[in-house]
Amino acid sequence: MTRAGTLYGLGVGPGDPELITLKAWRILSLAPVVAYPETRSGASLARGIAAPFLPEGVTELPIALPMCEDREPARAAYDEAAGAIASHLREGRDVALLCEGDPFFYGSFMYLFGRLAREHNVEVVPGVTSLTASAAALGRPLAARNDLLKVIPAPLDEARLSAEIAQADSVAIIKVGRHFDKVRRVLRDLGLAERATIVESATGDGEKISPLEDVPEGKRPYFSTILLYKGGEPW
Ligand SMILES: C[S@@+](CC[C@H](N)C(=O)[O-])C[C@H]1O[C@@H](n2cnc3c(N)ncnc32)[C@H](O)[C@@H]1O
Repeated sequence: MTRAGTLYGLGVGPGDPELITLKAWRILSLAPVVAYPETRSGASLARGIAAPFLPEGVTELPIALPMCEDREPARAAYDEAAGAIASHLREGRDVALLCEGDPFFYGSFMYLFGRLAREHNVEVVPGVTSLTASAAALGRPLAARNDLLKVIPAPLDEARLSAEIAQADSVAIIKVGRHFDKVRRVLRDLGLAERATIVESATGDGEKISPLEDVPEGKRPYFSTILLYKGGEPW
């Protein structure tokens, strides 16, 4: 009987290929099949990060994800991808699924994990997150001593954003993209905009760090994180 394959959720870090862990690199270098999410236009940050380490002759399984509010097209894409991955696993081939940052830190990996983990061997390999990478790029700790650190998704409405930010000592706002103007408005209303920084593509080729108030109006790249530290705890 053929040995069943294992699905590896591989965290490949935030952008710099040198931030791939030794464990992820080892598994990737032996993988017969590599899967990764990509946009409809064929762009894949995760594949780009792992590109120097893809084994020769590997079977690639891009997972085209629709970028839209409606969840139904994404569900269909994950169903189809889960089916394709399951076929490889049943035939005994391991599949390395490349995940930007860490698979379980707001990662789309969870949608495939949810569909496959009950019936297949699944192993998760943690990665360096964009959160820690952004703090490193900025050269400042995310939080100190008894600081309360909050990770806040920018799509939340203004009232919720305001309430959550007001109660935290240190804040990381993710999924900024087209929500940039709304988030900055909230920070200005709280008198905190001048203390915030936006980090784009941390550790990647296009890394950019800007004080929030220096950035023009309009949307920012999807891979942007706003960091705000209120400086409550001396360190
Ligand atoms: C869906 S979450 C995925 C997070 C990822 N799994 C991780 O571990 O960092 C995507 C959000 O993470 C943040 N992000 C991911 N990579 C980033 C990077 N290289 N630089 C800055 N922010 C990043 C952005 O806020 C982006 O909108």
